[in-house]
Amino acid sequence: MLLSIPEVLTPEQVTESRRLLDSAEWVDGRITAGHQSALAKENMQLREDDPAARHVGELILEALERNRLFTSAALPLKVFPPLFNRYSGGQSFGTHVDNAIRQVRGTPHRVRTDLSATLFLAGPDEYDGGELVIEDVFGVHSVKLPAGHMILYPSSSLHHVQQVTRGARVASFFWIQSMVRDDSHRTILLDLDVAIERINCDMPGHASAVQLTGVYHNLLRQWADV
Ligand code: NI
Repeated sequence: MLLSIPEVLTPEQVTESRRLLDSAEWVDGRITAGHQSALAKENMQLREDDPAARHVGELILEALERNRLFTSAALPLKVFPPLFNRYSGGQSFGTHVDNAIRQVRGTPHRVRTDLSATLFLAGPDEYDGGELVIEDVFGVHSVKLPAGHMILYPSSSLHHVQQVTRGARVASFFWIQSMVRDDSHRTILLDLDVAIERINCDMPGHASAVQLTGVYHNLLRQWADV
């Protein structure tokens, strides 16, 4: 599934994040690229141990922990520490797939990339181009969201970032290992969760809500690995 999650960060958090990130030291983005994607990649990134990256990364992880839609859609087991990129002056990232396994630098921890996330930290009025273009079985999707909003998509999809022809596109990107590996299973669980929530809202106390919650947990028990 391709899912847009609004207002992961508040406008105040975006402003504070940009203040820290804009004055940090940006380096060539190929530092985190695999062999194949290094050929297609042209952008700037912060080092993983950069203090600004770590600080804003923590802010994002805390916000995600409180975000109900993210939790319900991703069913996260592990979240890779957020990375940061910046595209300007005609930079782009050609069509690629994300590596299946990411090692968290300086640790023994590995994350299987089930879901990819891009959290936009620049508003659409700040730059031209820079759309994240994702290909899936339903076609080609072009994504450019307000600052503070995030797109979640299966890491198995081919994707690219269009050339930025004006201004700068600043974003955070990272990966999630889900408790539920299969995207179609996660989609069913999210649909069911949303439906149960709707029943609870429209018909509080309805017996079907309890029964359907039972179905939800029984499916989760079948499909989840923790
Ligand atoms: Ni990618």
